[in-house]
Amino acid sequence: MRTEVLAPTEESIARAAVALRGGAIVGLPTETVYGLAASAFDPAALASVFAAKARPTFDPLIVHVVLEPGPATAQLEALGLVDGARLTPAARAAADALAAALWPGPLTLVLPRAPRVPDLVTAGLDGVGLRAPSHPVARALIARAGPLAAPSANRFGRISPTTAAAVVAELDGLVPLVLDGGPCDVGVESTVVRVEADGRLLLLRPGGVSAERLAALSGRAVLRGATPRHPAVEGGSGLVSPGTLESHYAPRQPLLLLDAPLSALTVLPRAASVALLARDEDPGPAAALLAAATGAAPVLALGLGSDPGVAARRLFAALRELEASGAELLVAEPPAGEDGLWHAIGDRLRRASAPRR
Ligand code: TXA
Ligand code: MG
Repeated sequence: MRTEVLAPTEESIARAAVALRGGAIVGLPTETVYGLAASAFDPAALASVFAAKARPTFDPLIVHVVLEPGPATAQLEALGLVDGARLTPAARAAADALAAALWPGPLTLVLPRAPRVPDLVTAGLDGVGLRAPSHPVARALIARAGPLAAPSANRFGRISPTTAAAVVAELDGLVPLVLDGGPCDVGVESTVVRVEADGRLLLLRPGGVSAERLAALSGRAVLRGATPRHPAVEGGSGLVSPGTLESHYAPRQPLLLLDAPLSALTVLPRAASVALLARDEDPGPAAALLAAATGAAPVLALGLGSDPGVAARRLFAALRELEASGAELLVAEPPAGEDGLWHAIGDRLRRASAPRR
């Protein structure tokens, strides 16, 4: 079986919905990254998602929904996803306020799971991750097929796909069809927060919605889970979300993330060939410094630029291009900022450069 890539017409969306209802898995565009979707209440289909990705079952899946205007938690209860009896009034108020402000969009809320949610979705945890995506193709498909559990559509530990072609590069032959919704607008995954009983937010993964925004909307500092230090995030429960492993988003060859721009560095490891992800839009000056330090010009140099929205949109495609250059070593300068979306970008680069297991 080769993977079919379909333009998102009425017919192809209807066909994908029929496939999902019949237990198949489908490649799905969202505004963050492409997902590999299965019907959220179908354990056999969920098992195919884990098998296609070679993903360990300790890593929970996010359930994607479409909601009507009005309080989100009541609708999530009605869908059989959230256990309202275990939601405190404070948690309910916090979740409803965030959903009203940020859904549809790149935010995942972890809330008490309803008994109907399969264990494969939550990895046996008592919370379920929920998100209402804004991509029109995702919304049209969910409207027809019902709630969809979808991890990013990459092999486990690899670079997340932000185009339909990248999904095929990861999963050709392992998923029957991918709806092509164009390049993803946000480019990094959703921010994952667990809503605590007292209504505070525990940040489990930085992403498309900044910690500053969450802090402003909730009126309190966000608690820090297993995420990089950040000014809008306090404390340090060290609580790890399963799946937020150190090594993730990894290209095939090693990626060296510098702790200072090339302009401040002199010593670099020897490599037969290098490719560069520069912090500036124009990678030329950094490439020249790298060439001077290593004795050879990089085989490919790309720039992330100083606009965090643009940098996030470019990030995963740039990592894929660098990987495809065939260079023996990939070198990345630290990104240009730390707040807002830079938090997620820095997190992804750090994990892409982490030692492999
Ligand atoms: O933007 C996104 O979130 C994309 C698109 C497709 O929606 N999805 C995505 O899924 O990034 P995935 O599976 O690659 O990453 C989801 C992560 C898990 O690895 C885990 O860290 C966290 O979200 N997560 C999901 N459900 C959770 C739960 N019940 N409790 C704690 N963490 C959870
Ligand atoms: Mg992923």
